[in-house]
Amino acid sequence: MNKKVLVIGSGGREHALAWKLKDSPQVDKVYIAPGNAGTAIVGENVDINFTDGQKLLQFAKLKEIDLTVIGQEAASEAGVADLFRKNNLLIFGTSKEATRVESSKAFSKDFMKSESIPTAEYRNFDNPQEALDYIRSKIPPIVIKADGLAAGKGVVVAQSLTEAEEAIKSIMVQKTFGDAGNRIVVEDFLAGQEVSTHALSDGNTAVMFPASQDHKQIFDGDKGPNTGGMGAITPVPWVSSEQIQEVYQKIVSPTIKGLKSRGSEFVGCLYPGLMINGDEINVIEFNSRFGDPEAEVYMRLVDCDLYQLLENCAQGKLNKNDISWINGYAVSVVLASAGYPESSSKSDIITGIENAEKLSDIVIFHAGTKKEGNNFVTAGGRVLNVTAIGETLNQAIDKAYEAVDLIKFDGMQYRTDIGRRPQT
Ligand code: AMP
Ligand code: GLY
Repeated sequence: MNKKVLVIGSGGREHALAWKLKDSPQVDKVYIAPGNAGTAIVGENVDINFTDGQKLLQFAKLKEIDLTVIGQEAASEAGVADLFRKNNLLIFGTSKEATRVESSKAFSKDFMKSESIPTAEYRNFDNPQEALDYIRSKIPPIVIKADGLAAGKGVVVAQSLTEAEEAIKSIMVQKTFGDAGNRIVVEDFLAGQEVSTHALSDGNTAVMFPASQDHKQIFDGDKGPNTGGMGAITPVPWVSSEQIQEVYQKIVSPTIKGLKSRGSEFVGCLYPGLMINGDEINVIEFNSRFGDPEAEVYMRLVDCDLYQLLENCAQGKLNKNDISWINGYAVSVVLASAGYPESSSKSDIITGIENAEKLSDIVIFHAGTKKEGNNFVTAGGRVLNVTAIGETLNQAIDKAYEAVDLIKFDGMQYRTDIGRRPQT
């Protein structure tokens, strides 16, 4: 069979999705818009921005694309999935309405409350004075969140009332994140360990992935500022299959049903970020797409035809038995450019990728890379994801770091403790 696929996005997540889609016996050609230097090895990059729905649509019609897969949330937020569906083109990705579980934190909290989905106590505010009055009744830490998308930076975990007041003023009065801060959520602090879960849905039913864990801070020991994610593991050894079942029953299933009853079917990947504390599981946030770097580890272990799986979701025909997994563990270590996350260095020459890829069980997914002449060079931000699989978590970790040791570029930053958190 010769199916043609279009993947929308340009990160390591999209390289991983494109790589696994290309592995499908049904897939002949993968296009990636706009892609990176790594996706250009798997398929053909197309120079269209991921929010330009009309151009993406034109391209998909011209090339007779069989299935489009949205990686990057900005595409969903821009209504790309709605436009494709209106034109009867198959697409895996959420509508603008369903994306609100991620794009509006206030909507997401109200939705969870109305569906009795476990999450921290909260209140939404449009008025800074009311928010300031409310926090005085609270004992810190208190969490302040800008309502809209703020590139992962709109959340402040305030350790004191003064810090909380400053956060409210910065978000709502100084508008540090623009209109994303017209509204805020003030939420109780949740203690515990953060875990990522993912579920694929066709709008009616959903299948759960194993748990994964990101490492958000830039430095070892979870120190320093938050980033997009510095590395991930899957599965998480201490998260049981009973807990995943509980996440399905108490979180994923009510979300899919609740959205459908509101007329906004969720077709895509639901990624609830959780806080787990003993027996207690709470939702910190919903995302309406694959995590990055979580997608990179999932794609190493998924053991079925990804094209068929995503097509079934897009066609509303998802079956619980559609998905299977390789036994073992996957690890991804992110290599980031100098200055990340505050700034990022560009055009540094990267060496060693080819040698690292010769090691067994290693696959490298590109993120911020470009080709200049014969060289791969950095294009800022997160640059590469070095992924490894192993029978045990420790084997996977050791293999990943053996490969990391072979790769070099100026100012390369990475964490040396991915997957090495104490297991609870
Ligand atoms: P979010 O964008 O909502 O995922 O928040 C970013 C980060 O802030 C999360 O990954 C958590 O580390 C932290 N965070 C958010 N909400 C809470 C909460 N209620 N309690 C503790 N930490 C939180
Ligand atoms: N792993 C964090 C994110 O994708 O939002």
